[in-house]
Amino acid sequence: MFDEIKFNRVDNLPKYVFAEINDIKIKLKKEGQEVIDFSMGNPDGDTPEHIVDALVKSARTSGTHGYSPSQGIPEVLDAIASWYKRRYGVTLDTKTQTIATIGSKDGYSHMAYAITNPGDVAVVPTPTYPIHAYSFILAGGVVEDLKLVFDEHYNIDEDKFFEDLENIFKFAHVKPKYVLVNFPHNPTSATVTSDFYVRLVAMAKRERFYIISDIAYGDISFGGYKTPSIMEVDGALDVAVESFTLSKSYNMAGWRIGFFVGNKKLIGALTKLKSWLDYGMFTPIQVAAATALNGSIDCVNEITEKYNHRQDKFIEEFEKIGWNIKRNKASMFIWTKIPQCVQHLGSLEFSKKLLSEEGVAMSPGVGFGHDGEGWVRIALIEDDERIAKAALKVQKFLKQYEDGDK
Ligand SMILES: Cc1ncc(COP(=O)(O)O)c(C=O)c1O
Repeated sequence: MFDEIKFNRVDNLPKYVFAEINDIKIKLKKEGQEVIDFSMGNPDGDTPEHIVDALVKSARTSGTHGYSPSQGIPEVLDAIASWYKRRYGVTLDTKTQTIATIGSKDGYSHMAYAITNPGDVAVVPTPTYPIHAYSFILAGGVVEDLKLVFDEHYNIDEDKFFEDLENIFKFAHVKPKYVLVNFPHNPTSATVTSDFYVRLVAMAKRERFYIISDIAYGDISFGGYKTPSIMEVDGALDVAVESFTLSKSYNMAGWRIGFFVGNKKLIGALTKLKSWLDYGMFTPIQVAAATALNGSIDCVNEITEKYNHRQDKFIEEFEKIGWNIKRNKASMFIWTKIPQCVQHLGSLEFSKKLLSEEGVAMSPGVGFGHDGEGWVRIALIEDDERIAKAALKVQKFLKQYEDGDK
């Protein structure tokens, strides 16, 4: 009915590639089959007890059940500012330079909605966490891809990044207004040095663009690598905002709380838009988030160590079956090329077949854009025993291709 009535915005969205994997997962689970699931960056652990206790205590306190300010309660904004001060030595004005968001994904969609005029160009490195690009596209903007180049240890080739970015500006019909960066990077886990941000801030001032930086995996780094923040760079507050989330390193993905900090004009735009669209999150969630950010980082270290250990375990078990993977320095993911014998399938077909036939779920690289074709992203959300079991299932799956049966 009413076929002439179209919804251009959603009609023009491509099919969400990961939905195909999810559909198979749901079907297998319905049939009672086991799924070893490496597909989603959805931490498997529980939120640390002291954070849950803070939520419960606040929920039992009178006066916490009504609407809360859409920018965030003062307690959580103070905690965000203290976190930046302690961690990165950066001073933020809570009223104008911080905002709590309903997860950082909400922050991205609303930030882009707030700041994008029709036809505005945003540069987004590829492959990419889909909302980084689609937030701008949904808001009426245009995305210019910048292909990420990194070495076998997942270090970004920073010179190449700037060479490509300079070229985009040199040849652009419409000069980009925004450059989005996300390191440690989802899906590739690639990292940058702090010098990268010094160069990026300098270039932003010269070419007159804003930077949006996502450090969702900033806590999860290994072997002495510490995730730098763009906010550490002198003058960054003039040109940049940065987001973080409690989803990953505090096991709080279902709670939906993250935040943005930085440039007053961008934070102001998001704050104004959200004051029209949202009320604040349930106060006890914000109180608990403040407890997390102000509290001991022992729980974060424990969670980080778990991912560190699982990465070793995954590499070890998969090496035994001939799938060689190099170590990365950060994030909860492994980004790896699918073996040669199944390259012809492409990453989506490979992931669908592996899941349907052996019950092992991985995210197809093509879901992160065409530059992800031929790769898969593995989220380290299964324990040692299931990692070892998955390796044997993958071995069985690959054997039919190695033997030339298919
Ligand atoms: C790079 C990156 N940014 C942001 C998010 C969104 O996190 P949340 O909305 O849970 O804060 C994710 C989730 O996977 C992510 O990988």
